[in-house]
Amino acid sequence: MCNMADKQQEQVRRHVSFSEEQKAKEEKKEAARQAVPAVKSPAERWKLPPRYEVRQLIGTGSYGSVCEAYDSTEKRLVAIKRIGHMFEDLIDCKRILREISILKKLNHQNIVKIYDIVAPQNMKTFEELCMVMEICDSDLKKLCRTDVNLSQLHISTLLYNLLVGLRYLHSAGIYHRDLKPANCLVNQDCSVKICDFGLSRALGVEAQPQELPSTPREGDQATAKKGLKRHLTGHVVTRWYRAPELILLQENYTDAIDVWSVGCIYAELLGMLPGTDVQERGPLFPGSSCFPLSPDHKHKTDYKYHTKGKHDQLNMIFNLLGTPSDEDVDLLEREDAKKYMRCFSKRPGEGLRSKFPAPDDDSIDILFHMLRFNPAARIRVADALEHKLFGEVRDKATETAASEFITLPFELEPDLDETLLRKYFCKEIRTYHPEVPEL
Ligand SMILES: Nc1ncnc2c1ncn2[C@@H]1O[C@H](COP(=O)(O)OP(=O)(O)OP(=O)(O)O)[C@@H](O)[C@H]1O
Ligand SMILES: [Mg+2]
Repeated sequence: MCNMADKQQEQVRRHVSFSEEQKAKEEKKEAARQAVPAVKSPAERWKLPPRYEVRQLIGTGSYGSVCEAYDSTEKRLVAIKRIGHMFEDLIDCKRILREISILKKLNHQNIVKIYDIVAPQNMKTFEELCMVMEICDSDLKKLCRTDVNLSQLHISTLLYNLLVGLRYLHSAGIYHRDLKPANCLVNQDCSVKICDFGLSRALGVEAQPQELPSTPREGDQATAKKGLKRHLTGHVVTRWYRAPELILLQENYTDAIDVWSVGCIYAELLGMLPGTDVQERGPLFPGSSCFPLSPDHKHKTDYKYHTKGKHDQLNMIFNLLGTPSDEDVDLLEREDAKKYMRCFSKRPGEGLRSKFPAPDDDSIDILFHMLRFNPAARIRVADALEHKLFGEVRDKATETAASEFITLPFELEPDLDETLLRKYFCKEIRTYHPEVPEL
């Protein structure tokens, strides 16, 4: 493993970045922050028990903001994610319930840990929730935006850790379904912790059919009609990491969807090797439209337009990797998807090597196998862990599996209304605070 920071120093060095220069900048900022009496930041308005002292905002997502805080009871730094307006949209609300229920049941070093949920004062009326989690130094998105290079060994270690976390997750019957750099937390020692399970799917229980096949984040018309801004915002980012079978609305997708996303993340990390300018880094497939779920707004129904559009997600994929074989297209479940696929002009694709001249052959090989169009041909996580690339970094002892599949009983509720949701939240919160009365 690449020990970038001494374990003992970790506590004090939280949120420093991966370069000394950056560290100096952070220190300057911190000094300025302490010298000037700060204007009340949103973090200071958080309603938290005195045990938690909020220090600084460290992240924002479409659902909440995340602060660094000091837990004086446990004497450690923690991350607190606050979600407001909980019951304004019941789909969003279920997402939060899913996240806390899944996190509570997962136990692995490459999955972020949940420590506590702050007990709301009134279970019948509460509108915001604070989740207390293990804190990490950064996430892979922030890391990629930092003007610093990583060695091949660092990048292989990050990928290995991510795959170990994913193996555990899949062994618990969970598909993450929203893996992207911002949802992969990272520490100075190259450890990776997967977070943000709101869009995950538990195989242990069949989710309701209307929520499948894809994520509720899709910018389809139904979502747009409901005015779910939060879904749409998130959707823009997530598209770039979305597997072709999800783009093509296949219902029986498998855990291979997460492997595709990891491939895209890995490709982005390879942009951090020495010799690449920070300005040139970015997602592998930054499509700006994604037919049929979020078509180009001027050509919403013209599917042929998208088979030509340079910025359509699938076209971007094919320009690099080539169009899939007729056999692979025939394997698609839906007739409309097959018909659509046949409209793309056939091409061999530029090839990974032309885009990535620097990495060694093993890197290109694993990337190639993670980015196979046919999910059945895509490398399985267990096989990826055996890849030659990890010869130096592999630590089999960390490759543990969950003891059972996670089940989420609320996914089976035919009518999960606010009253019922509050009951389920109450149940979750009572595992941390048994003193909270049952609803
Ligand atoms: N435990 C943590 N330690 C450090 N930073 C964290 C932690 N949890 C979250 N963050 C930061 O906050 C950001 C948002 O967190 P998270 O992805 O959980 O929120 P979200 O609102 O569900 O996001 P999304 O926009 O993906 O839906 C992360 O990308 C990361 O930068
Ligand atoms: Mg996120």
